[in-house]
Amino acid sequence: MKIVTIIGARPQIIKAAGLSRIIHEHYADRIREVIVHTGQHYDENMSQVFINELGIPQPDYNLHVGSASHGIQTARMIEGIERILLDEKPDYIVLYGDTNSTLAGAVAASKIQVPIVHIEAGLRSFNKSMPEEINRIVCDHCSTLLFTPTLAGFENLAREGFKTDNDGPYNIDNPKVFHCGDIMYDNSLYFSTVADQKVDVLKRLDLEGKPFVLTTLHRNNNTDDKLRLNSIVEAVMELSKETVVVLPLHPRTRKMINQLLDEDKVVRLFHTDNIIITDPVSFLEMIQLEKHASLVMTDSGGVQKESYFFKKPCVILRPETEWVEIVKTGAATLVDADQDKILQTCRHYLQQPPVNFPEVFGDGHAAEFMLEQMTQCHNDKTPD
Ligand code: UD1
Ligand code: UDP
Repeated sequence: MKIVTIIGARPQIIKAAGLSRIIHEHYADRIREVIVHTGQHYDENMSQVFINELGIPQPDYNLHVGSASHGIQTARMIEGIERILLDEKPDYIVLYGDTNSTLAGAVAASKIQVPIVHIEAGLRSFNKSMPEEINRIVCDHCSTLLFTPTLAGFENLAREGFKTDNDGPYNIDNPKVFHCGDIMYDNSLYFSTVADQKVDVLKRLDLEGKPFVLTTLHRNNNTDDKLRLNSIVEAVMELSKETVVVLPLHPRTRKMINQLLDEDKVVRLFHTDNIIITDPVSFLEMIQLEKHASLVMTDSGGVQKESYFFKKPCVILRPETEWVEIVKTGAATLVDADQDKILQTCRHYLQQPPVNFPEVFGDGHAAEFMLEQMTQCHNDKTPD
């Protein structure tokens, strides 16, 4: 069986490590994985660092599309992916998540009838102004095998008309939907031990013995809106009077802080003792930070979940989330970009950390389950 895996943005590269590892360990004689990097993310610390650190095979192709408007970026990817699919003739294309690289893979593959496997299917924010919401809806509805990380994702697909009995031969008109748990849970469990052996970010950032809040920020509606960006930065500066705040900065956020905020505020932000601003860190460093933080504050999908995996409270800098389960348990709270709400919720969690983290992301073996289903479906279809 041959699969083409599309990676491009940081979280996809990390997710892909979960499947590649199990292919390498258990399916090396049966599955050939061809990896295509779209080049959506290209800085060393947004891309290559993960390939090196997480043992992902070097991509077979890199389309080097780089940054551009959604239309231009996606169009370049579609063109490149179509060419590769026609040459490679895979049995499946594997798409992760909801980025423009996911969308491009879905459009290219569905037009030439390459079956799509969508990993992290079914998630919805019910907010179509998010570029990711459009990407995930399109990808789900072009897919043939859909793997949902949570029950909420599974139920969303059922509501959208997907049959979930998985009867009959599968094809794009009769897709199969499986609830299997989250591949990022697999990764976090696996790499958590590796992280302790290989990196020491607490030492590197002079955080040993210090309580700290870990923050990430990159959603376009936060970074590109001056009022929202300013409100979140003000909250960070206020919070830093009470605790250390660590902020590994996405390149988009660094650019927009410099572009949109007053110069004196930017100077204060970058020169406040209790605010540690760094370039993006590696995944091993990130999970080490998550494990040791008192609290996580983020607008990232991945980081929200990881805070839950490591039993940390999470302040979500968004009006809604696809990961509804973590809010329902009380371990995470939606605060949007509201400065007062951010501060109140942080203080509340710092004083009374939640203790209830029921298992909602599977058993840490989602990748094994997905590969079993993929090979089973492929064998059912292929005559002896
Ligand atoms: C993208 C995804 C988003 C995901 C995020 C993960 C889409 C529509 N968005 O958002 O869903 O959560 O990745 O991080 O696909 N840049 C660099 N170097 C890089 C990459 C980006 O400097 O290596 C800067 C460029 O100025 C670029 C900007 O970041 O214009 C935004 O990059 P882009 O990939 O378009 O979107 P993200 O905000 O990263
Ligand atoms: N991450 C990382 N280094 C960082 C910030 C994030 O390794 O400096 C990891 C994080 O642990 C998670 C993933 O990147 O696994 C999340 O990606 P991101 O926040 O960029 O995108 P999203 O999940 O929101 O799509």
